Amino acid sequence: MTDTTLVISGLTIERGGREVVHGVDVVARPGEITALLGPNGAGKSSLVLALAGTLPVKGGTVTLDGLELSGRKPTAVRAAGLATVPEGHRVLKDMTVLDNLRVSSFLLPARERDAAIARVHGLFEELAPLGERLAGSLSGGQQQMLAIGQALVVQPKYLVIDEMSLGLAPIIVRRLVPALRRIAEAGVGVILIEQFTQLALDLATDAYAMAQGRIVVHAPAAELRDAPERLEQAYRLA
Ligand SMILES: Nc1ncnc2c1ncn2[C@@H]1O[C@H](COP(=O)(O)OP(=O)(O)OP(=O)(O)O)[C@@H](O)[C@H]1O
Ligand SMILES: [Mg+2]
Repeated sequence: MTDTTLVISGLTIERGGREVVHGVDVVARPGEITALLGPNGAGKSSLVLALAGTLPVKGGTVTLDGLELSGRKPTAVRAAGLATVPEGHRVLKDMTVLDNLRVSSFLLPARERDAAIARVHGLFEELAPLGERLAGSLSGGQQQMLAIGQALVVQPKYLVIDEMSLGLAPIIVRRLVPALRRIAEAGVGVILIEQFTQLALDLATDAYAMAQGRIVVHAPAAELRDAPERLEQAYRLA
């Protein structure tokens, strides 16, 4: 295992006084898409929030580059190279598209910010001409591009996307797929949480399924593509 592997080990999370994630182990590698699947209430979003530093961790560790990330504040997690796109493409709706990207670029030295924003425009070309539009006026698909773009501005080593295609038409989702491939090809490790399991398995190298706060399946994505019944079992545990 190289230093740049993201290792989640024995992660336990409590919400509202109740343990909702019970000792989860996940390994994600740079340049690969790792799918995290599972039914409603499995604990996927709780895991994402804990990774981001927005939910406290009750037990376990998250390490990246030998650095312990759990227990750190969201800004420290982001600075260490882990960016998350929470559920529901949350952009700053009353600000322009460009200002949304500028706000996210503030973690970078001033002289690097314009180039970082240009890289996002290179990835999501349809955002470039929309710079002066209010983010709230964009389509759902464009808002998701912007949300992913905001996470990417600071060139993270890992990108965690919660429910990438939620609420988006299939045709829009297909426009996001090539961008996701390019992000991984550039060396970023992606953890993709997706309701369209087939789409996630097509993109991913490795796949995990959670149910009731535990990992119940872990296999190469190709294996699960060929044996969908293994996932169906996980979904029946919900
Ligand atoms: N704000 C909250 N306070 C307390 N418990 C919560 C809260 N949000 C979620 N939970 C509980 O945590 C558990 C895991 O939920 P979580 O949202 O992490 O699952 P999920 O896998 O993301 O589901 P979905 O596919 O519906 O997004 C569930 O039992 C849920 O009821
Ligand atoms: Mg969720």
